[in-house]
Amino acid sequence: MAEATVKTTDFVHRFLPAPKVADAPTLLILHGTGGNENDLLPLGQALLPEANMLSLRGKVLENGMPRFFRRLAEGVFDQADLQFRTIELADFLTEAADRYGFDAKRLIAVGYSNGANIAASLLLRRPEKLAAAALFHPMVPFVPETLPDLTGKGIFIGAGKNDPIVPVANTVNLASLLTEAGAEVVTQWHQGGHSLTQAEVQAAQTWLQQQRRSA
Ligand code: MLT
Repeated sequence: MAEATVKTTDFVHRFLPAPKVADAPTLLILHGTGGNENDLLPLGQALLPEANMLSLRGKVLENGMPRFFRRLAEGVFDQADLQFRTIELADFLTEAADRYGFDAKRLIAVGYSNGANIAASLLLRRPEKLAAAALFHPMVPFVPETLPDLTGKGIFIGAGKNDPIVPVANTVNLASLLTEAGAEVVTQWHQGGHSLTQAEVQAAQTWLQQQRRSA
């Protein structure tokens, strides 16, 4: 199948198939604020080159910058919009699996910042949609009244001890929440801020290869 760039009423996205689409895991790639569907494809390919790549563009615009859901201020999320957008994303994933023929049960999210936050929201609201997730610089998107069952799901968190956007306590809380829900969480800390570091990417790469072996 040829690479496809498609604009639908759903999400602007790119799908880059592996040679055998149905036999490969699929990375669901979600950019940070102001990014687009092209930005993190090289990251996905560095992380797990043998995977299908499904990379989305967030539909919410903040001063012209694409995001996956609205926020009221830095780190303060519009919860109604977050809920709506999370369900919309979950539904899109079902359609995309049908359209492209990938295995919907082997979807691994790779999200950075705002993209990591909607991936975390998906794990908490529609856990069946993701087999695993690599979350770079995520925050707690919301605290659910009832925890989902994340048993058997691997989650990698990359975080900076000096992140001006995500306080250390917030990352710790997210890791605890996901662990309490049954996920196997690995947190990789670095001394930096909100940017991705090479060491963090390498750690995620090793982690993903391990997930791949057990998937
Ligand atoms: C968010 O709004 O999702 C987080 O504050 C991260 C960001 O996108 O700046």
